[in-house]
Amino acid sequence: MISNKAGLISIFAKIYLILILSIFSIIQFNITAASKPFKSKNGMVVSANKIASKVGVEILKAGGNAVDAAVAVGFALAVTYPYAGNIGGGGFMVIHLQEGNNTTIDFRERAPFTAYRDMYLDKYGNVIENMSLEGAASVGVPGSVSGLIYALERYGTMKLSKVIQPAIDLADNGWTLESQDAESFYKFLEVFSKYPSSLRIFTNNGVPYKEGDLFKQPELAWTLKQIRDRGLDGFYKGKVSDLFVQQMMDMGGFITHADLEKYEPVEREPIIGSYREYKIISMAPPSSGGIALIQLLNILENFNFEKDEWGSSQYLHRIVEAMKYVFVDRTYHLGDADFYPVPIDDLISKEYAKTIFERIKDNAVPSAEIFTGDSLRYYESTETTHYSVYDNLGNAVSVTTTLNSAFGSKVVVEGAGFLLNNEMNDFSEKPGVSNQFGLLGTDANAIEPGKRMLSSMTPTIVLKDNKPYLILGSPGGSMIITTVLQVLMNCIDFNMNIQEAVDMPRIHHQWMPDKIYFEKFAINKDAMENLVKMGYDFSDMNDRITTIGLVQGIMIDQNNKIIYGASDSRGNGSAEGF
Ligand code: GLY
Repeated sequence: MISNKAGLISIFAKIYLILILSIFSIIQFNITAASKPFKSKNGMVVSANKIASKVGVEILKAGGNAVDAAVAVGFALAVTYPYAGNIGGGGFMVIHLQEGNNTTIDFRERAPFTAYRDMYLDKYGNVIENMSLEGAASVGVPGSVSGLIYALERYGTMKLSKVIQPAIDLADNGWTLESQDAESFYKFLEVFSKYPSSLRIFTNNGVPYKEGDLFKQPELAWTLKQIRDRGLDGFYKGKVSDLFVQQMMDMGGFITHADLEKYEPVEREPIIGSYREYKIISMAPPSSGGIALIQLLNILENFNFEKDEWGSSQYLHRIVEAMKYVFVDRTYHLGDADFYPVPIDDLISKEYAKTIFERIKDNAVPSAEIFTGDSLRYYESTETTHYSVYDNLGNAVSVTTTLNSAFGSKVVVEGAGFLLNNEMNDFSEKPGVSNQFGLLGTDANAIEPGKRMLSSMTPTIVLKDNKPYLILGSPGGSMIITTVLQVLMNCIDFNMNIQEAVDMPRIHHQWMPDKIYFEKFAINKDAMENLVKMGYDFSDMNDRITTIGLVQGIMIDQNNKIIYGASDSRGNGSAEGF
């Protein structure tokens, strides 16, 4: 049956190929000095998916607060943005409450209890290709359902049945696929065809979906109803968990009933820093995002950037050098702080940043001289999603959530209709080997039972006079951190409105490989020539991606009580408000 379907798909493949190639080769963003954000007075939701943004605004209109709306958006994204929205993944929520306090909820996936350090290595100690990237063995214990329910119960005002219902209706009644949805399913059909439960969901009886088709997900609706009616037990115990564990047993996965039953989100103190007169609230480990962002800002605060300096070689040189130092620290010191002693206070201290600032001179310092090491690669994927919410009471919520890769492990739980993450790939599969000096830095992110894998997700809230000024975040693996940095600086240092700040082209450097990644238009000819003279090397991005990040941001003008929303023009999301 599968091979028949695969045959059909290959016929359709030929028909669609030219269309798809032409669409995916287009760089999707527009840069326009006249980019205008969406404006509202009473509340705003910005996400990578229009339907989900609208769901969030309806909750705000019905009297829900920003947390109620965020939880509704989280469940809706699992239905309308299966590429990254999820109930089978994890994420982080940063909250600023109207009373002025800040908190975060960590619902990152965990390693199963039977996981062990070398689980992805063969008998010769080599990484087994793809094992942590695809299929049941790559799945971490999902935290999203637990995190969303925790947030709602602790900080929301509405019942779970109310905020989850829009997602159930969308799954039951279906929603109309736009071209990008059909294309994203199509792009992964070959890999879905390895997993019958996934192929069945993401094809229309074996035929690729196309723009305009109604996409119904009755099995996912059933799972969401289990959650609606039984709360946590509807997902982590009972029938859904039985199907989940069965899938693991059938396909060589590690997750057991005990893993699911014992999963718990953690409410953590945020990482707090400052940049000029602004306060930065971001995510603590197991995300590296908050620490890395604040480290970068601490270093860059020592420079004064003129308004017209944006895009100059001097500006790019300074931010790139800062990125290199911060990514060295990320590599060697960051992991789940519940398992590894992350030197958080040292890393985010202004004094430490000053020592790095003093090392930034006129030319590029080769990465190998900053810290000699092997060419360590980050295996984090770029497919994650962010959403930002603000309500008329002054509550701000910033959520980044992920299945890791696009469509995660590519495995849909048979009978339960939801995709599973492949987050185990965010661990260091083989710690220590990249450092020729034998430093055990990457042990920070080694696999251990129950440990959370290191993330780069950087859901962030920026306060001005202790009131929300920016709410932002992005997908993009290691590029999340540098994306959030640049958008934030675009607003604060270069006085851009939030849409301009989000849309401007971006660059990225992560220490190793020693290259500047850059989007089209990010580096003009003069700047490029100067940077080459300073000693920089560049990636043409063709080997990896064409865009950096996909930001969903909100800027609040507290004086005039105006909320501005901006969904990145690189994508197809929307800012919705009222
Ligand atoms: N999976 C991407 C991240 O957590 O950073």
